[in-house]
Amino acid sequence: MRPMSAWRIMHQDPTVVEGRSLDPALVRRVGRFARPYRWQLVGFVAMIAAGAGLALVPPLLFRSIIDSAIPNKDTAQLAVLVGVVIGAALVTAGASLLERHWSSRIGEGLIYDLRCALFDHVQRMPMQFFTRSQTGAIVSRLNNDVIGAQRALTGTLGTVVSNVITLAFTIVAMVALDWRITIVAILLLPLFLIPSKRVGRRLQEMTRDSMQLNAEMNAQMTERFGVAGALLVKLFGDHDRETDEFATKVAAVRDIGIRSAVYQRWFMVMLVLVGAIGTAVVYYLGGMQVIEGNVSIGTLVALAALVTRIYDPLTSLTNARVDVMSAFVSFERVFEVLDSPSPIADTPAAITLTDPVGALRFEHVDFAYPGASEGTIRSLETGGPETDPEHGPPSVLHDIDLDIRPGTTVALVGPSGAGKSTIASLIPRLYDVVDGSVSLDGHDVRDLTQASLRRAIGVVSQDPHLFHATVGENLRYARPDATDADLRAACAAARVLDVVEGLPDGLDTMVGERGYRLSGGEKQRLAIARLLLKDPAVVVLDEATSSLDTENEAAVQAALADALEGRTAVIIAHRLSTVVDADLIVVLEHGRIVQRGTHSELLAQGGLYADLYRVLVGGGDPDSRLVLG
Ligand SMILES: Nc1ncnc2c1ncn2[C@@H]1O[C@H](COP(=O)(O)OP(=O)(O)OP(=O)(O)O)[C@@H](O)[C@H]1O
Ligand SMILES: [Mg+2]
Repeated sequence: MRPMSAWRIMHQDPTVVEGRSLDPALVRRVGRFARPYRWQLVGFVAMIAAGAGLALVPPLLFRSIIDSAIPNKDTAQLAVLVGVVIGAALVTAGASLLERHWSSRIGEGLIYDLRCALFDHVQRMPMQFFTRSQTGAIVSRLNNDVIGAQRALTGTLGTVVSNVITLAFTIVAMVALDWRITIVAILLLPLFLIPSKRVGRRLQEMTRDSMQLNAEMNAQMTERFGVAGALLVKLFGDHDRETDEFATKVAAVRDIGIRSAVYQRWFMVMLVLVGAIGTAVVYYLGGMQVIEGNVSIGTLVALAALVTRIYDPLTSLTNARVDVMSAFVSFERVFEVLDSPSPIADTPAAITLTDPVGALRFEHVDFAYPGASEGTIRSLETGGPETDPEHGPPSVLHDIDLDIRPGTTVALVGPSGAGKSTIASLIPRLYDVVDGSVSLDGHDVRDLTQASLRRAIGVVSQDPHLFHATVGENLRYARPDATDADLRAACAAARVLDVVEGLPDGLDTMVGERGYRLSGGEKQRLAIARLLLKDPAVVVLDEATSSLDTENEAAVQAALADALEGRTAVIIAHRLSTVVDADLIVVLEHGRIVQRGTHSELLAQGGLYADLYRVLVGGGDPDSRLVLG
């Protein structure tokens, strides 16, 4: 008896497969994924069959030893039979090694294929996929479901094949030895199956509960041990409450662990019991037959050895359907991701933009953020905002018309939520417009390849991200072949070289979430250095709303002046100094352009810009921050 099969029965979830049958299209698709491994699969199944067949050899040889070699005092025959038993054991060992060799090559190869395909696909999903899906759920698709799919092909397939073969061979051998005893032995099985179904169901419930409880425990750890979460706990300082909450969750995990351990043992104990009872019954019935002279002692011993080999496969096979179905569910979940189309993809006729000049044009642009089900996967979302199915997602931009000549700077200002960041996100085509068009150098951005479009555009966002890598690696993300001298030059232009040189390991210092913590202004200047290395024709800058200290602000300002030189720039400005120098200021309110002009024109015009300027800044100090919203 192998504990593995008992484990499998307990960990399958019948609720996901109940009342379903295998979809032939799904099976064909799995077949296509398995195709490169067909020869390994053949070898794998052949080795399983060989192992199952060879397992019959020892009991049958023991029969000959007892019935013929020993009574005849034939030492030569005894030696030969024992030699064959040893030989069979050696061949079985070899077959088992080969089987594992092939099954692991198939399994790991499949994991590799699926993971690479998923990673590639997920990267290409549109932004709304990432804003709406839970990162944990995506990662789990790439980890657990891929492993589940691999189990389907090697584990489940292997178990079913080996059980069918073992059962067929064993029953044939037993019937040949004595069919009546065989039937009685099989009739004993319901003794085990009926209670085991009950225990199995209870165990499934427990497994589900335990996964849920584990997930809750992990969620608390992940959130509290993240930098931001840890900081919040420290600042509010209630460690005891946190520990109590955690302890409650861990206690639930402990309790269910104890209960399911005992239940699992019940399962095993019953299987052992039925095996023991079966063997006893065989000895009783067989013993009677031996006494009556109908059956030889060797046959009895062989039957007793074989009978234990039918209960485990029979139990497994009664659950095989659920087993196979749950294995295929993993495949289905993997394919669900692979099949989700990305609405933002290059058209077959997409043009590669070469030598961009940076002429940007918005023509009658209307935009609404995509609602649920557009470019997202429902099962990866949890609790995201539902959109009203009657009216669709709310409109965010209305009739935006904007012509930005190459090399000029446009400042977008307006209250919070007016749609400034949204306009910025349409330029590199993070989203597609609902109506109208955005074009670069006369080409609609939807007609350009995304790679060439994004090469032409450099973005510094409100809170720039640095990967957990060295400063140098983060900068080279924009230009992998940049030399250290290039990096230093970019840092110098971005006014961040002093900071980088002051770091413990200079360019080799680890930064990012878990690395050296840079200040907000330093991070922005590093992002500007990264942008300078990229050397794009168009620059989009979402200025940080958080206040920078004067020194940092002056440095960012100087860095910007260099970064914008000779490029088309769209700046979402929160600081007066940036706005005043812009060639054009566009004032947004509720997703509409309400005013446009230069600083002096707009001030003279009166209206929203002048109001906000006068009320919030008081008109005097040109270094004041233009806090809009
Ligand atoms: N991913 C999103 N999904 C749905 N709605 C969004 C999304 N991002 C922004 N919005 C909504 O779109 C509107 C415009 O947001 P946007 O981020 O463009 O404002 P903003 O002008 O940049 O504001 P701020 O000055 O505060 O950065 C807001 O009402 C916001 O709630
Ligand atoms: Mg914004």
